[in-house]
Amino acid sequence: MTNYVPEPIAHPMMPVANHDEHAREDITVDIKKWMTSYIYPNDELVYERKAKPKFKKQHGRGPEDCDEVHHLMLDEPYTQMWSSIARTLQEMLWDNQGEITAREMPRLKAEAKKYLRDPKGSLTLDSNFKTPRYVDAVDIHCMPGGYQTSLTDDDLFVAGVYERGAYYYTKGMGGRRREGPGTAMVNAIRNFYPEFSPKRILDVGCTTGGTSTSIASAWPEAEFHAIDVGPAVMRYAHARAECLDQKVHFHLMSGDDMSFPDQSFDLVVSGGVFHETSVKGARGMIKEMRRVLRSGGITMHYDIPFGGAFNIHEQFMLNWDCWYNAEPFWRQWTAWDRTDFLIEAGFKKECVVDTWADRDRHGNFAFFEKPFDETHPSAQGGTGRVQFFGAKK
Ligand SMILES: C[S@@+](CC[C@H](N)C(=O)[O-])C[C@H]1O[C@@H](n2cnc3c(N)ncnc32)[C@H](O)[C@@H]1O
Repeated sequence: MTNYVPEPIAHPMMPVANHDEHAREDITVDIKKWMTSYIYPNDELVYERKAKPKFKKQHGRGPEDCDEVHHLMLDEPYTQMWSSIARTLQEMLWDNQGEITAREMPRLKAEAKKYLRDPKGSLTLDSNFKTPRYVDAVDIHCMPGGYQTSLTDDDLFVAGVYERGAYYYTKGMGGRRREGPGTAMVNAIRNFYPEFSPKRILDVGCTTGGTSTSIASAWPEAEFHAIDVGPAVMRYAHARAECLDQKVHFHLMSGDDMSFPDQSFDLVVSGGVFHETSVKGARGMIKEMRRVLRSGGITMHYDIPFGGAFNIHEQFMLNWDCWYNAEPFWRQWTAWDRTDFLIEAGFKKECVVDTWADRDRHGNFAFFEKPFDETHPSAQGGTGRVQFFGAKK
């Protein structure tokens, strides 16, 4: 196959695949890319030429929303075919990562021990901490153990699975050092607030700290804190940051109930957290983020796109993950206008920024205001785009 994705550049805490495991990674990504290029785009043809006319004949009108499109397309063999392949690929991808991480676990634990002997940063775990139910009720996007599983005091399994798996899940688009989302976040902040130079930064929902360490290296003088609700991912993130020589203070803490004082950060960020959070959790989190932000401080987030910008068939495609990929909150997040979300939390409309980002073929992010600016040199189009949104307090 020709669509080969290079291996991620390993740091000592990255699980390393052997030959056969890597061959499985390649084949999974190749099929994913093939689906994106050749299979998904034709679903719209099946919808327009076959399913929609059939629906109109039955109901005297066309489908009115993405849920009607979803139920209609369930009967289409073409949609059944790609949906089944997509789900199988997802399970193959994560199962393979589980095998790699399980085999690598003794080495990863030894590396963690070594790097945590004399740490620059810190890790605060609270033994009474209770992971929110919306996180531990599901192994999100079919990832074995989700974010929450921690079976022993030195367990790193789900974190290792995520660290390497996230690279292949996103078909290598997160950058070979997993630096992509963090550098994009820094670019977004510098794009909108060129003079801004934060002294205290908080990353909410940091998982293994990929975004945190990229942002920390952009403002090396700043004091950096990062929180998450999974003990194993926090343990791993701490060791990972130390092996990358980054000083980060990690805390096992929920974003909707933080113990930081009011107005204690200049910059509060999150990446990919809200679409995996209940409505109540997301509302609680953005309110808390505003509380801990000082006046004049900035909050900035990236996440999957707002569905309202797409037609109802595209929304059905965008929301597939909610129904078939163990992403229970995805559908409600894609229905939520980002500006409204920030205003509801208390930010003023005139202080909100809401923009779209895409990658060029070199993997660099660029930002534009309209979702369908296909003339932009970076625009690859489609629902794979991400949205950056934020506000000044
Ligand atoms: C898609 S991952 C985030 C990816 C991460 N920002 C990165 O750079 O790789 C979502 C994360 O949000 C965390 N999360 C979910 N609810 C949370 C909450 N209430 N407080 C803090 N973190 C939360 C999950 O445990 C998970 O690690």
